[in-house]
Formats: sequence, C-alpha cells, structure tokens
Amino acid sequence: MNATSSNRATFGGRIAAVLAAAGSAIGLGNVWRFPGVADANGGGAFIIIYIVCVALMGLPLMVAEFSIGRHTRSNPVGAFRAIDRRWGWLGAMAVATVFLILGYYFVVSGWTVAYVVNSAAGRVDSTFFARFITDPWQPLLYTAAFIAVNHYIVERGVKQGIERASKILMPIFFAILLALAVYSLSMPDSSQAIRKVLTPDFGAVDASTVLAALSQAFFSLSIGMGIMITYGSYFKSETRLLPTAVNVALLDTLAAVIASIVILSAGVGDQSGSTLAFVALPEVFEGLPWGGFWSTLFFVLLALAAILSTVSIHEVVTVYLSEQRGMTRRRAARCVSAGAALLAVAASLSMGAWDDIRIFGRNIFDALDSLTATLLLPASGLLTCIFAGWIWDRRQFRGEVARSGGIDAKMFPTVGFLLRWVCPPLVAALFVFGLID
Ligand code: PHE
Repeated sequence: MNATSSNRATFGGRIAAVLAAAGSAIGLGNVWRFPGVADANGGGAFIIIYIVCVALMGLPLMVAEFSIGRHTRSNPVGAFRAIDRRWGWLGAMAVATVFLILGYYFVVSGWTVAYVVNSAAGRVDSTFFARFITDPWQPLLYTAAFIAVNHYIVERGVKQGIERASKILMPIFFAILLALAVYSLSMPDSSQAIRKVLTPDFGAVDASTVLAALSQAFFSLSIGMGIMITYGSYFKSETRLLPTAVNVALLDTLAAVIASIVILSAGVGDQSGSTLAFVALPEVFEGLPWGGFWSTLFFVLLALAAILSTVSIHEVVTVYLSEQRGMTRRRAARCVSAGAALLAVAASLSMGAWDDIRIFGRNIFDALDSLTATLLLPASGLLTCIFAGWIWDRRQFRGEVARSGGIDAKMFPTVGFLLRWVCPPLVAALFVFGLID
C-alpha cells in the first residue's frame, strides 16, 4: 500500500486539529504531575519558566512534527523515510515507544474508570487503593472496559472517531475542570493555592526547576513520540501550523494551571501520580460535604484526560500497521488493542501477583514507565530535533510550514533557528539528567 496515498482522511479544519492534538497533550500529567512540581518549584515562578520552555522547545518541536506529518501525509515510519530514506528507523523507534507507553497507560486509565464506579458507589476510602491494585481481576476488568472504548474510537477512523470524540470530550473535560475549580474555592487551602499559582516565588527556583519544567513540557505536549507527526498528517493543507501549536499549548497549560488550583486547594500538592489521585485526594473528599459526588466527578475528569491521550497513541501504531504493513484499519486497530492489552495484563499483574518478576530491579509496570520516560522518549525527541533542524532540506521544510503564509511564513526563521540551536541542547540536557537521576 502506498504510504503517502492522497485519499487519506483529514481533520475537518483548524478547530478539529487543535482539539485532537490538545486531547493528546492534556493527559494525566496535567492533573497529577504538574501541580505538585509547580508547588515544589516556586508556584507562579515555575509556571513562568514552564511557559518559556514551551515557547523555546515545545512549540518549535510541535511545528516540526506537524510539518513532517503533513508534508509526507504518512505515519511516522513512512514520514521519516519519505524525507530521508536513512531515517525510517527513527519513526520505528517512536512507534515502538508509544506502544510500550500504551501498555501501562491503559492500566492506570483502567484505574480511573474503577474509581468513577467505586466513588459513585461510596466504596472508596484511603485503604481502597492498596486492596484494589493487588487484586488480580478487578483492575483487569476496568482496563478491558477502557480499552474497548479506546478501540471503538480508533476503529471508527480519523473523522468519525478521533475528531468526533475530541470535539465532544474536550469541552466536557474543561466544563468539569472549571466546576471542580469553583468547588475547590470552598476548600480550606484555596486562598493559599491561588496565591501560590499567581505569585512567583523565585527564591524556590534553581537549575533543577528548569529541568523539571523542560521535562514536564516535553511529556505534557506529547512531543517526540510521533503523535504530532501522525496528527499533522491529517491536517488540511491550509491549516496554519504555528497558531495550531500555540493553541494546543495554551489549552494544555490552562488545564495544568486550573488543575493546580484544584489540587493545591485540596492540600495534596506534596503528592504526585497515582498516590495523589487514588489515595490522598479521596481522603480529602471523604471529609467534605458532597465529597462522594465531587470525587466521582474528579475521576470522570481523569478518565476523560486519559482517553484522548491513549487514543492518540493507539492511532500512531494503528496507522503505522495499516500503511506500512498493508493491513486494513480495522485489522490494524485490533492488533494494537490486542497487543497493548497483553502488555497491560502483565503491567497490571505486576502490581500484585507478578510483583516478583523484576527487570533491572523494577516490576514490569515501573520498568515500562522508566524505560520510556527516561530513555526512549527523550532520545527520540532529541533525534527529531536534529532531523528537523539539520537533516531536513530547509527549503522543503520552509515550504511546508509557510504554505499558507501569514504568521507561519513570518516565524519560520525563528522556528528553524530554535530547532537548530536551542532545542537540541535543551532536550539533550533532559536526556542526560534523566539518566543520571
Ligand atoms: N501528554 C500526556 C500527559 O500530559 C501524556 C501522554 C504521554 C500522552 C504519551 C500521549 C503519549 O499526561
């Protein structure tokens, strides 16, 4: 099958493009990682530094990925290969990386669904989590339900599936987030939380703050993993790339900042990840009026954040299989769901029954997490910068970005400069410090 076939699906327009990419970018990291990192690094000061990192590293990389995708109208492997035959392996690396991520992201996503159901039924207390994740069956059932929904969206295709889901679910996500933010104003720590987010404390900032901001920006914007290449390949020719990337980053940052108000108001900013969401927060909700209702709503928010992120990963692998391996979309989607489900089963069981299987001292879940987050993602991010900044023919690259004129044409020299000289050292720093850490 021709990887750059012209009858490929496209998104309806810029709004669809923004919502789909923002759906990928806004994920669990915005809710359970950003607030704690911001809290520990000077609150508003962190947010300012974060925005600078997004502008210097995130936006150029996102524009580069969008243009690689749209220029080639292909999946990551086909895309790199079409621009330079020797670089197909980088696409393969990205596809393999996101597939591994999908394996454990599905597990955590299943937990969010379990918490929606169990909070609604009033069964969640501070001991629930430990019992739940070590149970061999319960987590698997919820993960299976989550995978089924994810599969349904991807199998329906770019327009009917991904675009539609993004257009429906993103507004619901923001409505719930705003409702939670308003509710959080009634929590005891709320005025302190707002002060934290709005006032920069540069005294708490040091070199590690910059690294934390870089790493959060990189992960949160879903860059360096072929996702934005894949979504860019569905953009219409007239879609402006820089404004699209700016809008995605704005929505992503807005979600993270509002989530910070909620999380810090609840006084759980000293926690992060699953402990924050599944242990500390339920405990806070337990003591609040209407706590059960709001905690259910919070887990709906998490599940929504998770679904559009996992859909974007699933899509990368699905379109790779269909275009490079000649499968129909349906068959490809099934292979991805089945393969990721197997990984998810292993990752899920590694929290309990299979905890004694160790890879470099870690259980399967943690091994997948650290292999992808500290090694594979920064590596493929770095190589993508180098590819866009140094390997891709400048005129071709400019032609793709500047296609619809306007701000894209005007800003191309800046984007190109950042990709060549600023992004590689920044991402390299991430990579090196991630390894040492
Ligand atoms: N960007 C998502 C977040 O902030 C995470 C994600 C990682 C999404 C990998 C897709 C792929 O949580």
